[in-house]
Amino acid sequence: MEDIVTLHEGGTPLLRDPDGRDLFFKYEGVNPTGSFKDRGTAIEISRAKELGVQNVACATTGNMGASVSAYCAVAKMNAHIFTTKFAEPAKIRQIKAYGASVTVVPGTYDDALAESKKTRDEKGYYLMGDYPLRGEGQKSVAFEIADQLNWGVPDNVIVPIGNGTLAWATYKAFRELETVGLTNKMPRIIGVQARGCNPVYNSFIHNLDYIVPLKKTNTIASAINCNNPVDGLETLTAIRESNGLCIQLSDEEILRAKAEMGKLGIYAEVSGAASYGAYKKLKLGGKTVCVVTGHGLKDSK
Ligand SMILES: Cc1ncc(COP(=O)(O)O)c(C=O)c1O
Repeated sequence: MEDIVTLHEGGTPLLRDPDGRDLFFKYEGVNPTGSFKDRGTAIEISRAKELGVQNVACATTGNMGASVSAYCAVAKMNAHIFTTKFAEPAKIRQIKAYGASVTVVPGTYDDALAESKKTRDEKGYYLMGDYPLRGEGQKSVAFEIADQLNWGVPDNVIVPIGNGTLAWATYKAFRELETVGLTNKMPRIIGVQARGCNPVYNSFIHNLDYIVPLKKTNTIASAINCNNPVDGLETLTAIRESNGLCIQLSDEEILRAKAEMGKLGIYAEVSGAASYGAYKKLKLGGKTVCVVTGHGLKDSK
């Protein structure tokens, strides 16, 4: 118990659509560091504390780094964060504010990941990121959605995909609720990617059982700019086994969704608005939950 590191993450609101559609927004922007990442970080850092870890290495598009840095500050660990030049300046400022060191690695997210792994191999730093422990923490977003809907599972849950860890965790959580009999159906997991970084979408529409990493990406949705998603295959499984789907959106479509969400009283970061963009584009019927993964103050677009 004394090893549990928390900033009281989770317990975020499930907002009903003010326009009266059968639509809800799970507003993850109000987590302690402004994104859903805190759910997984609490678990990862607690385990690291239990193991007596002093130095943590983490690759990030921005939000995970901010989250890991905050929890490291609480746990009195040193955070070494590796990111790309795509990362939002506001997120880099946030990481530094928690006292972490930041290295901006040239190239893609995959290159930042390789750098973080190098410090594990060469210096023995504890590697943190989109690994199973984090996924276990991120499942709580789905447990909360089910609870907030009075155990009435929605028809669709829409999740932006970067590494795919959140989509996979969401699927697993709903599957577990069904297995233990707390719920009696599965929602369709609907994944959304940016057109300029769409490896999971490509595999989905071409019906592939593997992910083709992208050499180059180009999107303003920096938080989901993962060219070789760590949990890409797991996400495909989540989508396929839940009879869901994966779509891609242009940057313009995502920005439009962000602007429209503002008119609903929800300020989302660009990548977090992709879920609502997908809802609009798919013209979905049935009860739908858009996971709004990060706060609008996180980026400048
Ligand atoms: C705001 C935001 N949305 C979505 C995602 C995608 O999450 P995942 O990498 O688990 O697919 C991220 C990941 O960094 C994010 O920061």
